[in-house]
Amino acid sequence: MKNTPKYGDEIDRWEETMYLYESALKTMTMKAEMMNDEFVHRYRYNPIEHIKSRLKSADSIVRKLKQDGYDVTIENMNTKLSDIAGVRIICSFTSDIYQIAEMIRGQEDITVLYVKDYIRHPKPNGYKSYHMVISLPVYLSDGRKDVKVEVQIRSVGMDFWASLEHKITYKFEGCAPKALLQDLKACADIVDMLDNKMYFLNEAILAIAEEQKRAKEQEECESTEEEAKENEIKVKEAGEKETKEEFREKGTKENGYNEIQDNEIQDNEIQENEIQENKIQENKIQENRTEG
Ligand code: GTP
Ligand code: MG
Repeated sequence: MKNTPKYGDEIDRWEETMYLYESALKTMTMKAEMMNDEFVHRYRYNPIEHIKSRLKSADSIVRKLKQDGYDVTIENMNTKLSDIAGVRIICSFTSDIYQIAEMIRGQEDITVLYVKDYIRHPKPNGYKSYHMVISLPVYLSDGRKDVKVEVQIRSVGMDFWASLEHKITYKFEGCAPKALLQDLKACADIVDMLDNKMYFLNEAILAIAEEQKRAKEQEECESTEEEAKENEIKVKEAGEKETKEEFREKGTKENGYNEIQDNEIQDNEIQENEIQENKIQENKIQENRTEG
């Protein structure tokens, strides 16, 4: 171990550092995906169109450190750079951008280190995007490490513009002709207008959908009330019918009883008449005997 060259240690440290950034990148990407899934689950709506992530290459890290006047060390890489791990979240509408930012801010294990709101304060060239530099924990076998991630949140339009602008200005190494820069700024304004139009269109669609939902609920509520009333009437009618039938049935039973009684009375009367007639006959016979 004593003879292990120093650069071996440095390579190990470099690899471990990059492993940490890669893990942080995966965690942040997964968090963003889960936020989108939660939206879909709760509101049947996906605010995120897509997510891109990238790890800054060794070349870019070295170039950036040198450009900013720092020694190329792992220490400086961790303290002076904020975008070694970068996640770009592309949203459908501008309103979604702030909602996603709020959700990120609300995550317990995330610390927001700083924010650059290029949407409320666009760059003079027309660049618009919401940037957050956050720190999140990565757990290794020897403990927790807090790792920085740069999160850029923007609309599809803003992303489209930034990609083309980057390609164009990169080609001219920061010295693009003035006319071209003016055209790019004009394009940024068009994208801005388009985003606003899309936002209001979406708001109008949501309002119509909400109105239709309310109307349907109202309709369902009214039809349930009507049904309940109809059922109440039916129950009442059925009750009345039952009472009448019961009454009729009771009446029939009573009539039957009376009929039996009547029959009994009639039988008694016949018997009494027969007795009476027999008595008359007996008297007549008696009278004839006496006369005779
Ligand atoms: P960098 O030194 O470029 O990293 O800038 P910064 O550390 O001051 O951070 P900033 O938030 O300004 O920019 C971070 C990243 O946003 C950049 O690396 C780009 O990806 C993007 N960005 C910033 N400004 C522009 C711009 O004018 N055009 C484009 N296309 N991208 C930009
Ligand atoms: Mg940067």
